[in-house]
Amino acid sequence: MEAKIRVENIFKTFTLSKKQMKINKTDEKRKVAVKNLSFNAYAGEIYGLLGPNGAGKTTTLRCISTLIKPDKGDIFVNGFSAVNQANSVRKSIGFLTSELKLEEFFTPNYMFDFFAKLHGLTPEVTKQRKIELFTKFGIDSFKEVKISDLSSGMRQKVQLVISIVHDPEIIIFDEPTNGLDIITGKIVTDFLIELKERGKTIIVSTHIFSLVEKICDRVGIIIDGKLIYDELLEKVHESHGHIEELFFDLAEVSAS
Ligand SMILES: Nc1ncnc2c1ncn2[C@@H]1O[C@H](COP(=O)(O)OP(=O)(O)O)[C@@H](O)[C@H]1O
Ligand SMILES: [Mg+2]
Repeated sequence: MEAKIRVENIFKTFTLSKKQMKINKTDEKRKVAVKNLSFNAYAGEIYGLLGPNGAGKTTTLRCISTLIKPDKGDIFVNGFSAVNQANSVRKSIGFLTSELKLEEFFTPNYMFDFFAKLHGLTPEVTKQRKIELFTKFGIDSFKEVKISDLSSGMRQKVQLVISIVHDPEIIIFDEPTNGLDIITGKIVTDFLIELKERGKTIIVSTHIFSLVEKICDRVGIIIDGKLIYDELLEKVHESHGHIEELFFDLAEVSAS
């Protein structure tokens, strides 16, 4: 099976501002966020990058999505380099994050059309996608309400549909259920499983064991910028049982 995404030995170091140094309670000016990290993700599978806060999950996903460049190493998406062929990579990727900010003044309807146009969708395709996604996420009832007047759950639904307006074959989702109410959370996880069954390649990051158990086929455990484990979930079940047990076994070893 050929990998759809190959992450090859990426490194990323940030230079901290004085304020960031204070927040991180450190005297070090530099923070190595990702250290020599590699893994493969395959079509028709959900890969889960599992790790605690600050482990380097978002940094890794931002590198894959070409929002930032790794200092060293590269990522190949459909054979295209994220470092040197970012535009080709971007076309096939939808990056979802709850950190995305929406323009407060516009409506979901307007935002959807705007992003559809940005991706070069025809009006007919835009209309079709809108009906499909607005129905699935229950956006119709508030599609003409300004973003500034929406609840955070409503905003997240809008962010989500906008990120996948172009029906990308690869979905990168940073902490998919964070901040969602349980009903929306279930819609999102069911939707990810449906996309996977349609042959999409999906990478999610999370610190929630049960989410990995529920939706992932493969899991990578990331601690302190390093990927310390990478395996099919069914193999984890055979050798360790629940992913949570494996995680704490590994976390103990990596801390000692
Ligand atoms: N833009 C940045 N500037 C400085 N430090 C950063 C930046 N982004 C991330 N970091 C630091 O890199 C480390 C990994 O962060 P991140 O990838 O966001 O982890 P995670 O998503 O697993 O919580 C953290 O210590 C974080 O503070
Ligand atoms: Mg993060």
